[in-house]
Amino acid sequence: MSRVTVAQSAGFCFGVRRAVDLAEREAAKHQTLYSYGEIIHNTHETRRLEKLGVRTAECTADIPDGAAVLIRAHGVTRAVYETLEAKGCTVYDATCPFVAKIHRIVEAESKAGRRIIILGSKNHPEVLGIAGWCQNAAIYESSEQLLQALDELGLPPETPVSVVGQTTLNRASWNISVKILKKRYTNCKIFDTICNATDERQTEARSLAGRSDCMVVIGDKKSSNTKRLYEISASLCPHVLHIEDATELGTSDIEALRGLTVGITAGASTPAWIIKEVSNMMSAETRIETNEDFAAMLEESFKTLNNGDKVTGTVI
Ligand code: F3S
Repeated sequence: MSRVTVAQSAGFCFGVRRAVDLAEREAAKHQTLYSYGEIIHNTHETRRLEKLGVRTAECTADIPDGAAVLIRAHGVTRAVYETLEAKGCTVYDATCPFVAKIHRIVEAESKAGRRIIILGSKNHPEVLGIAGWCQNAAIYESSEQLLQALDELGLPPETPVSVVGQTTLNRASWNISVKILKKRYTNCKIFDTICNATDERQTEARSLAGRSDCMVVIGDKKSSNTKRLYEISASLCPHVLHIEDATELGTSDIEALRGLTVGITAGASTPAWIIKEVSNMMSAETRIETNEDFAAMLEESFKTLNNGDKVTGTVI
C-alpha cells in the first residue's frame, strides 16, 4: 500500500474562484457572454463554462459591438478596456485584484518617469497585460536572461528603475533577480508582487516534494503557476508526473507508485473535481490512503462548486 498526501493548497486560488463565480453569474443573465482570452488557464474549466454560454474571443475584433464581455483573471492592457468601451460593450471585470494592483503600480511608476522592469514570461497574458499599463517595459523571463540582457538594455546605473514580477513567479528565482537589479541600479524600487496563493502553493510543494518518493502535479500545460510547481517538485523529488487530468495517468504509472510515498499538488486554476478524480483513480487502483483533511476540504468545495456531476467515484 502507498501513502498519498494531497497538498492543502492544491487547486483554485481566490482570484480564479472569483473569476469563475463571476462568469457563472453573468452567463446566467446573458445569452452570450464573451471572455477576452481564456478566463483561466484550464481547458476543462473553460469548456464547462462554454456550455453555460461563455464564448472565448481571441481579440477585440471577434467581439460584436454592445456585447457583454468578461475580462479574464490574468487581466488585459488598458487599450483593451478603451476598445471595448468604444464598441459600447458592457464589461465584467474578473481581473484578479492582485494583478490589477500591479497595473496601478506600473502605471503610476511609469507616469513618474521611472523605467519599468517586469520579471515574468514574455508571452503570458498576465505579463502582456501589465506591460500595457506603462511605457516601454523591459521583460525578463529568468535571472540568467536578466544577467545577459542588462548590458544590451544599456541603462546608466543611476536610471530610476521600478521592478514588478508576474504573480506566479518562482520565489527563489525572483530573489536572485532582485539582488542582481539592486546591485546594478542605484535608484531601484522593488515591488514584490508574487501573490500569497503562489507563495503558499510553492512552499507546500517544496515541503511535500522533499519528503515524497513521487510527486503528481495536476494542471493545464498552459498554466504558469502549475509549471512552477512542477519545476520546484522536480528539483527535490526523483519522480515527478505533470498531468492535466486522470486520463493521463496510465495503469503503468499507477503500478509504479505501489509502496511509494506520493505527494499530489495542483495549480491554482485546476478545479477540485479533477484533483478528486486523480486521487480517486489512484485509490481505486492501488488502495492508496489519502489524507482525510483533504477529503473533508474537497467535500466542502464541492458544496460550493456545484459541478459534482463530473465526479466519478466517492471521496476517499
Ligand atoms: Fe490571483 Fe494569485 Fe490566483 S494573482 S489569480 S490569487 S495565483
